[in-house]
Order: sequence, then structure tokens, then C-alpha cells
Amino acid sequence: MSTVFYNPMINSTLQKKVFLETYGCQMNEYDSELVRSILKKENYAFVADESAADIVMLNTCAIREHAHRKVYGRVHSIRHTRGKDNPVMIGILGCMATNLRQDLLEDRSLKIDFIAGPDSYKRLPQLIHEASDEGQKSYDVTLSEFETYSDINPSRKEGVNAWIAVMRGCNNFCTFCVVPYTRGRERSRSPENVVDEVRRLVTEGFKQVTLLGQNVNSYRYDDYDFAYLMDEVSKVNGIERIRFTSPHPKDFPDRFLELMAVNPKICKHIHLPLQAGNNRVLDMMNRTYTKEEFLNLVDKIRTKIPKVALTTDIIVGFPTETDEEFEDTLKLVAKVQFDSAFTFKYSERQGTVASKKYPDDVPEAIKTERIMRLNEIQKEITFKKNQEHIGQEFQILIEPTPKDKPSTNTVGRTDGNKLVILPQNGHKMGDLIKVIITDATPHSLKGIIK
Ligand code: SAH
Ligand code: SF4
Ligand code: F3S
Repeated sequence: MSTVFYNPMINSTLQKKVFLETYGCQMNEYDSELVRSILKKENYAFVADESAADIVMLNTCAIREHAHRKVYGRVHSIRHTRGKDNPVMIGILGCMATNLRQDLLEDRSLKIDFIAGPDSYKRLPQLIHEASDEGQKSYDVTLSEFETYSDINPSRKEGVNAWIAVMRGCNNFCTFCVVPYTRGRERSRSPENVVDEVRRLVTEGFKQVTLLGQNVNSYRYDDYDFAYLMDEVSKVNGIERIRFTSPHPKDFPDRFLELMAVNPKICKHIHLPLQAGNNRVLDMMNRTYTKEEFLNLVDKIRTKIPKVALTTDIIVGFPTETDEEFEDTLKLVAKVQFDSAFTFKYSERQGTVASKKYPDDVPEAIKTERIMRLNEIQKEITFKKNQEHIGQEFQILIEPTPKDKPSTNTVGRTDGNKLVILPQNGHKMGDLIKVIITDATPHSLKGIIK
């Protein structure tokens, strides 16, 4: 596929300044890096200060209503702050763009200038030109069966980990989920293309890559599957750690588990979204596995990789979920003993099968009560799992110190993705060091250098 960029700036001495804000998942983070790269080539400059920007772009998420509301609130606040004297163009990118194009454009109070869906980022220069120079509202939310942006080198921020989307879209149509509608059908990049990107990342100083897809086990390019891809990536010299997210519990191949078990570069961490622990609910969600099958998979994973860290996603209050069915989720959580869990209250999404077939009938107060009980139980399990680390030795990869931690700390992560906090010790970002764990909280571990 050819990539022809329209270049409105080519003869212009005025560089337009862009402020880009990202919501949602890692896939969106990666997409923002693609957007930065596409626009930088066209002479746009990215600024960290929103008030200095000519264009504000929000790369949005549509997964829950809360994510929508945040974006609407943000647009109103930008319009309010900038006022009439210092106007700014506003563009909406990402998953909200696809399913809310009409609403966004018609809402006069928002005054959105342009909209680009996840497969239309190469057209951004053209869309911006139409909106700024020709004064029309412009949009492109077409979903592509082919676009993988394999010809774009993302413009990343410095760090130890780089995201790589190895596939885009989703064909699973879980009934609650908007992603198949906002991101279209599954398509994968070639293994050579991914491996080339990993090689380039090594030369840029990255030590870890995380391969991304809505269901990485659906990765397919010719006859190559995800296990093949992971194996190839692990052969790249200089890459120390490889992570991936997410696999779907319905089709975790043995071959991939065996590779994980023996390949030292592949981190022993699997994010395995459960969603619910009751078979009737799982069936209504169209997850295509039962709780028994999920438990068997967990057993198989732990037999092959005994020290594996398992994390999950759970939705409470799916339509018609009864108290007893929710108890089944609690029982499964107690049984599996996940290292940690992301928990969500069901949020009805426009256009999904659940929104058409099942009324959102679990009252908000019950959803809140359920999520609090679930979080309480999971917090104890996470704390216990973290405490089991005390006294043991781990290799950690040093990361940039997060803003909420004192600069007198050094932080890193274990293979199982646990955050370890150490006293400042002269080691720098990207170093792999051995530590002994001395203490644990429900959120992190404390350690000393061995
Ligand atoms: N493709 C990934 C999930 C991406 S969305 C996977 O299947 O693993 C991340 C999580 O958001 C999902 O696992 C689910 O737990 C949650 N989620 C998705 N749609 C939701 C909705 N309508 N309401 C509440 N939570 C939702
Ligand atoms: Fe959504 Fe299901 Fe696809 Fe994940 S697998 S993105 S939850 S439809
Ligand atoms: Fe990600 Fe949100 Fe889209 S979770 S795929 S940005 S709907």
C-alpha cells in the first residue's frame, strides 16, 4: 500500500504546535506514537504545554461510559480555558471517534474541528488542512481490513519498554464490548516487520518490548502464529525481556506455553481476562469458555510454568447477573488466586449485542457493592501473593522512577511484573539487577540489592 501524505506545511515557515493527550489502553498509547510520527514528518511540532498549542488532539477510549464522560468534560474545559481570544482547533482521535462521529460533530457546544478513527491516522494531515484552511469540519472513521501502520516508525518517548501492536482489531464480539466496532476486523503484521521494529528499538536503547493485540493468540500471518513471532522476537540480540497482552482464555495454544516455559526472555506473566465466574453469564457474554475450561487452563499454565504470575479482568453487574452468580465469580477468584485483577462495573455500550438484547438491569448500587466486595477479596490475595516474595531473590529491570515516588528511590519490575522499590543505588534505567525482597504491601514490593 502506498503512503501519500498531503503536506499543507511544506512551504510554510509556521510550524503548527500540537498537544496530544491519550486515554484508554496501551494500544492507544502506541497509536499516539504513530500519530506523533506521522505529523512530525509533516513539520508539526509537539508541545507539552496545552496553552501553547494550535491544535489539541484527544486520542479517546470508548470502553466504558466513564471514559466518554471524561473526554466530553475535557473538551468543554479546553474551550472554556482558551476562550474566544485564544481559540484552538480540537481533534478527536481513537475509539470514540468511530462510534460517536455523528454525535461529536453535531454537538455545537463541543465545536470539534476534525475526527479521525484508529485506521485513518495517515489522513490526519489532510483532515487538519481541511479543517484549518478550508474551514470545514472534517472526518474519516473508515475501518480498514488491511491497515497495520507497518510502514510507520512510531515516535516513542524514552524509556525501557516499547509497545508494539502486532495486530489490530478484534473478531471476538464479546457481547459487552465496543472494541470490534471501534477498531474493526483482525489483521496482523508480518513477523519480519515486527522483528525489524524490535531491532531498531534495541539500537534506540529499549530493553523490553510488549507485543500488543486484543487477542494475541489470534495473531496469524500466512502460516505463522504468535508462538513463532515471540520466538523470532526473542532471538533479537539486546532485547532482555518480552511481554505480551492479552491472550484470550478460549484458545491458549500448548505450543506457546511450552515456548514460554523454556524461553528466558519471555516474562512469566500472563494477563488472562476471566470476566465472570458463572457459566450462564460467560455464555451471555459470548466468551466461549466455561469456568471449568478456564480452571483447566490455569492448571495447565501452572503445571508448565510453576512461577507464573496471573492477572485478570473482571466485570461485575453484567445484565441479569444474580447475587448467586456473582458469588460464583468470588469463588473462582478465591480458587485461582490471581496476582492482581482489574475490576469493572458493567457499562452498556451503544451498538453492542448486550445493549440490544439485555437491559442493563443490575442497579448501580448493587454493582458498587459487588465491585467493593470483589476488590476487598482480591486485595487480600494480592497482598498475600506479594508477601510470598519476601526473602526471595529476583532479577529486576530498572524503570524511570514514577512521579508519585520520591526521587530518592530506584524502581524496577520483576519478571512477573511486580513493582519493586529500592533505596537510590546508582543503577540506572535499563539495568538488570538482582535484588532480595525485604517487605511487601498490597501494591508493591521493597527490596535491597543482593
Ligand atoms: N481484548 C482484551 C480486553 C480489552 S478491554 C481482552 O479481551 O483481554 C479491557 C477490559 O475492559 C476487558 O477485559 C473487560 O473486562 C473490560 N470491559 C470491556 N467492555 C466493558 C464494558 N462494556 N463494561 C465494563 N467493562 C468492560
Ligand atoms: Fe472486547 Fe472481547 Fe475483543 Fe477483548 S476479546 S477486545 S473483550 S470483544
Ligand atoms: Fe483501548 Fe479503549 Fe479502544 S481500551 S481499544 S482505547 S475502547
